[in-house]
Amino acid sequence: MSDWSLAIDFGTCFTTAAVRVERSGTESGAQAGARSGVASGVSSGVSSGVSSDGTGSAAAVEIENSRYLPSLVCLGDDGRLLTGRAAVQLAAQRPERAEHHPKRALLRQSAVLLDDREVDTVDLVAAVLARVADEARAVCGGTDPARTVLTHPADWSPADLDRLVEAAGRAGLDAPELLPEPVAAARFHAANAPAGDGAPIAVYDLGGGTVDTAVLRREAGGFRAVAVAGDPDFGGRDLDQALFELLRDRALDLDPAPWQRLQADRTPVGAHQRSQLSRELTLAKESLSSTGTVYLAVPGYPEPFVVQGGEYRAAVTPALTASVGLLERTVARAGLTPAELGAVVLCGAASRTPPVADLVAARLGRIPELAADPKAAVALGALTDPPAPPPPDGAAAGETGFEAAGPGRWAVAHYPAEVDPWFDYD
Ligand SMILES: Nc1ncnc2c1ncn2[C@@H]1O[C@H](COP(=O)(O)OP(=O)(O)OP(=O)(O)O)[C@@H](O)[C@H]1O
Ligand SMILES: [Mg+2]
Repeated sequence: MSDWSLAIDFGTCFTTAAVRVERSGTESGAQAGARSGVASGVSSGVSSGVSSDGTGSAAAVEIENSRYLPSLVCLGDDGRLLTGRAAVQLAAQRPERAEHHPKRALLRQSAVLLDDREVDTVDLVAAVLARVADEARAVCGGTDPARTVLTHPADWSPADLDRLVEAAGRAGLDAPELLPEPVAAARFHAANAPAGDGAPIAVYDLGGGTVDTAVLRREAGGFRAVAVAGDPDFGGRDLDQALFELLRDRALDLDPAPWQRLQADRTPVGAHQRSQLSRELTLAKESLSSTGTVYLAVPGYPEPFVVQGGEYRAAVTPALTASVGLLERTVARAGLTPAELGAVVLCGAASRTPPVADLVAARLGRIPELAADPKAAVALGALTDPPAPPPPDGAAAGETGFEAAGPGRWAVAHYPAEVDPWFDYD
């Protein structure tokens, strides 16, 4: 019988998976991990396990040396659906065969046209899930998982969830459990926070294609989302677009001709140059979370363009402010003030964008918490058991769980005095 669990956070842009090997009898987690190949993870395709709850250890699965499998699917020459690097490589050359965002497609249409073939969107999703499951099986002794957890946006309808479950079935993953993404993120936070205090948790998840916010209360069965709101049309991709527009304006100011030629070129070379530029823009955008300046070479211009972090941040701050406004409204809709929250948790890889944390601090008066790997937090949290329920009313320090939590733990008083979202980082 298999003794491992699989969780998949199927994202708009990237998919991350985690596995957890269960301990049997007196066996230690390390012994169980070593037995199945999920040990330190260095050579097993499983990276940096996180200690969860004493019954085992969840760890992210590495596929092609990365925790982030692109969710992109591309139709191969032989008619099979390709995933991972093979799909990315082919999509750059044959964009008409690629679906970049199967998660979005699953909600919006029953089929997409890849080249001249109509492909069921459930099959697109199944291709990604099957790839992840195969990779996870390979590092877990070749057996099937005893349990599969699929995370999903908290506002998906039962019909949306049915389609996700159908995709899992076609990927050979029967009877998956479903868990809202913010609940998984809250579990991850609760398992890794210095002290569980039972107060509600707010989650802000800025992914590739969407932003989702939620407030979760801790109850006997774990976390329950009491308020959710999201924008299905704003995510990290829009930040790429903001950087693209900065670059475009710079290029047009200098000399419009090469830029216009690049955009008008319908040959495969032109398509390839645009796709290369788009990849470099994404890399530059991500680099701006940790560096002050990026250089972008554009075909036809003799020198690379220089973009400063400050101008990029100024460009993205209005849209990010609106997204943080969603979080504020979600907290209010839950009937809470920010001071009553136990934590404000940031997840989704794009929440690394520096103005996000500053804006949350400025608007909510709370220092948000960002996991070391804010994308993997969802998949890892999905395999973390729910925390214990909060103490009953009147127990511990206060009359209620909220008072016991105390508003001060993450209060803005501990934050650098002036939090200015328009602060120039350079
Ligand atoms: N260091 C970074 N700084 C800023 N943005 C980043 C960084 N690393 C990745 N991103 C961006 O994060 C986005 C992907 O985030 P993530 O993988 O969490 O999304 P997803 O789960 O696929 O999408 P969704 O949750 O919307 O379905 C991309 O736009 C990517 O460029
Ligand atoms: Mg996500």
